[in-house]
Amino acid sequence: MTPRIPMRIDKIEKPDDQPLVEIRNLRTHFFTDDGVVKAVEGVDLDVYPNRTLCILGESGCGKSIMARSILRIVDNPGRIVDGAITYRASDGRTVDLAKARPGSRALRDIRGQDIAMIFQEPMSSLGPITKIGKQITETLLLHRKITKAEAKETAVEMLNKVGIPKPAERFEAYPFELSGGMRQRAMIAMALSCEPRLLIADEPTTALDVTTQAQILDLIAELKDELAMGVMLITHDLGVVAEVAEDVAVMYMGRVVEKGDVYSIFENPQHPYTQALLESVPRIGSQRRRRLPAIRGMVPHPLARPSGCPFRTRCDHAMAGVCDVNVPELIDVDGAQVACFLHQSERAHG
Ligand SMILES: Nc1ncnc2c1ncn2[C@@H]1O[C@H](COP(=O)(O)OP(=O)(O)OP(=O)(O)O)[C@@H](O)[C@H]1O
Ligand SMILES: [Mg+2]
Repeated sequence: MTPRIPMRIDKIEKPDDQPLVEIRNLRTHFFTDDGVVKAVEGVDLDVYPNRTLCILGESGCGKSIMARSILRIVDNPGRIVDGAITYRASDGRTVDLAKARPGSRALRDIRGQDIAMIFQEPMSSLGPITKIGKQITETLLLHRKITKAEAKETAVEMLNKVGIPKPAERFEAYPFELSGGMRQRAMIAMALSCEPRLLIADEPTTALDVTTQAQILDLIAELKDELAMGVMLITHDLGVVAEVAEDVAVMYMGRVVEKGDVYSIFENPQHPYTQALLESVPRIGSQRRRRLPAIRGMVPHPLARPSGCPFRTRCDHAMAGVCDVNVPELIDVDGAQVACFLHQSERAHG
């Protein structure tokens, strides 16, 4: 397959550190009156320091719920029912976030300091009745040994870095006094000011104009290099993925169907779903920013998961008696990992 998206590099080195977070067989379900929604159904992922992992997949495939599971902020009636989320702290100690008690000290210490999350909707992390500046300095003072004056200086500097004009004035503003775009930037400033080891960004720039989007992505990349920060970025924008990702994971109905470095995923997508996702992306030279194209058929209703491979109902290669019977696990194929029986049978037959 020819490259369809201009890549900034043509080779991705393997990570040389241990992962910051190792997710294994994560399952997060919603127990609704109508039945159990298996939003996340057996996810394995690793996020490494100084690398960006981009998560791709159509709406409803479980990206946000997977990300929220890491920080244990899944709303009722959602619950982690299985799996491990191993976080490796800077002193090398590990903690299984999946088993941490909600509201526990361990979890509170990690949230906001070690791991920060930014959302598409800024008001999900900004309090409505506290001035922007105070919200940032409070987080800083909670997690760092600095004076109030230093905290203010850092906060204003960060507001400036995310492109907020007159940051010293905006420091004194309430969230409702800012435009949506400015609120979004303030929320991002708050998340980044703590210099987290891991940043989880769930479509952080979708609501922003292209220039601001680029500015924020640059800032994240800068901090990633400076702090060796690991980044998990959820985005529908393949142009962004090509620009910032080292690693890519493609999700479908709560499962990772393919993962690998960005180069192998874009150059040689192996899962029929990944291929379909990348199919109608324009070639080099055409419009840079593109959202994911539509794929034949519809994502099944979450309460009507197909048996076997969840993608088989939309897959041109589905094999009766195989794909509808068992759920394919991820296996190594050409340097990436793919969960598809096409590749498993290939391998089995030599
Ligand atoms: N509170 C809830 N109650 C029941 N089901 C839920 C709830 N929140 C999410 N879900 C379901 O969990 C599944 C995964 O949702 P999720 O928000 O993670 O998707 P997503 O990949 O982030 O989609 P998008 O790209 O639209 O943000 C969906 O089927 C969704 O309907
Ligand atoms: Mg989402």
